[in-house]
Amino acid sequence: MAPGRPKPTDPSEPRKGSSAALGKASAASKAIPSGAPVLVMGAGAVGCWIGGCLQAAGAPVMFVGRPRVLNALRAHGLTLTDLDGGTRSLPAGALDLRESADGVPPPALVLLCVKSGATASAAAELARAVPPATLVVSMQNGLSNAGTAQAAAPALAVRAGMVPFNIAELSPGHYHRGTSGVLAAQDHARLREWQPHFAAAGVPLQLHADVAPLQWGKLLLNLNNAVNALSGLPLREQLLQRDYRLCMAALIDEALAALRAAGISPAKLTALPPAALPAVLRLPTAIFRVLAARLLRIDAKARTSMADDLSRGRATEIDALCGEVVRLARRHGTAAPVNERISELVRAWPSDPRARSGAELRAALGV
Ligand SMILES: NC(=O)c1ccc[n+]([C@@H]2O[C@H](COP(=O)([O-])OP(=O)(O)OC[C@H]3O[C@@H](n4cnc5c(N)ncnc54)[C@H](OP(=O)(O)O)[C@@H]3O)[C@@H](O)[C@H]2O)c1
Repeated sequence: MAPGRPKPTDPSEPRKGSSAALGKASAASKAIPSGAPVLVMGAGAVGCWIGGCLQAAGAPVMFVGRPRVLNALRAHGLTLTDLDGGTRSLPAGALDLRESADGVPPPALVLLCVKSGATASAAAELARAVPPATLVVSMQNGLSNAGTAQAAAPALAVRAGMVPFNIAELSPGHYHRGTSGVLAAQDHARLREWQPHFAAAGVPLQLHADVAPLQWGKLLLNLNNAVNALSGLPLREQLLQRDYRLCMAALIDEALAALRAAGISPAKLTALPPAALPAVLRLPTAIFRVLAARLLRIDAKARTSMADDLSRGRATEIDALCGEVVRLARRHGTAAPVNERISELVRAWPSDPRARSGAELRAALGV
C-alpha cells in the first residue's frame, strides 16, 4: 500500500533497498532523546518489527512479551525482512527481553503493541511499572485503543498511532513487512525528538494534530482482515479473487455510509481515495490487477494478524474493526448488517473452524 498524504510535521518517505529500508546504525545512535530506552509493550509482529528497526539503527530497546515469542527470540535472534529486499538480524544476545514491565528502567518512549483485547491490562501494567507522564504511543489498529489505555493508565501520556503496513511472523524470530506505508501518530513535543530516529531506522513517523482520519482510513482497509481470516488464504491470493473482494467492498460501503453520516473524512492511505475503493474492488480481476497495481503491492508472504489469531485460537480484534463500524452506524442512523454478520462468523470460528470459498462467504454475508 502506498503511504498516505497527511499534513505531517516531518515526514520522510521510506527509502527502498536493503540497508535503507531497515535503517542505518550511525544515524539513529547519535542522540537518542534522554538516552533512555524504548519499551516495546507486547513483542509480537508490530512490536518486534518497529522495535527491531529502532534497535538495528542504534536505539536501546526493551521488549516485553510472552514466553512463546521471547523463547523464539532467545533461540533464533530477531530477523527483519521486507518486501523491498531488506534484511537485518539482531543476535539473541543483543536483545533485552522481559516477561513483564515490572522493574524496567524508566523508558523514554513506550510503544504499545498488544492486540486490542489486551490493551487495558497492558496499560495497567505500564501504569505500575513506568513513571507518571511517560509517553506511550498506541501502535494498534482500530479507533479506541489509545483511549482505553489512557483510561487504564491516567498518569501516562498516551497518544494514538497508526501502522499502515503489514507485518507477518514467517518463522520463529523472523518478522516480515509485506506492504509499505509511513507510521503516523498524534503530535507530542517529545515525539518530535524521536522523528529523526524513526526515519533513520527506516520507519519514518509522521505526526498529526488529529490521527482519527488516518485511523479510519486504515480501518477501512482492515475490514478485509475478517474476509482474509475466513478465507484461509494469503492476503494477495485472497484479494485476487473477486468473490472475496465483493465481500470487502460491501463492508467498506457500510463504513463509508456511516462515516459520511458522522461527518468524518477518512484519510487516503492507498493510491486510491477511500470512496473509490468499493468500485475498484468490484472490478473483474483482470482489470483490478491493472488499476490496483499499487494497492496490490503486497508480497506473497503477507497475511493478516486476524488469520493468525484464528489459527492460534486467540481472541480476534473483530470488535475493534467491524464492531467499530457497527457502532458508528448505530450512532448515526445507518445500517451495517454485513459488518455484523462477518463479526458473527469470526466469533463463531472456534466452533465452526473452516475456511470459506469466496462464493460461500458471499452467500453467508448476503453479498
Ligand atoms: N501485524 C500487522 O500486520 C499489524 C499491522 C498494523 C497494525 N497492527 C495492529 O498492531 C497491534 C498488534 O498486532 P500484532 O500483529 O503485532 O499482534 P501480536 O503479534 O499478537 O503481538 C502482540 C503480542 O503482545 C503480547 N501481549 C499481550 N499482552 C501482553 C502483556 N501484558 N505483556 C507482554 N506481552 C503481551 C501478546 O500475547 P498474547 O497472545 O498472550 O495476547 C502477543 O504475543 C494490533 O492492534 C494490530 O491490529 C498489526
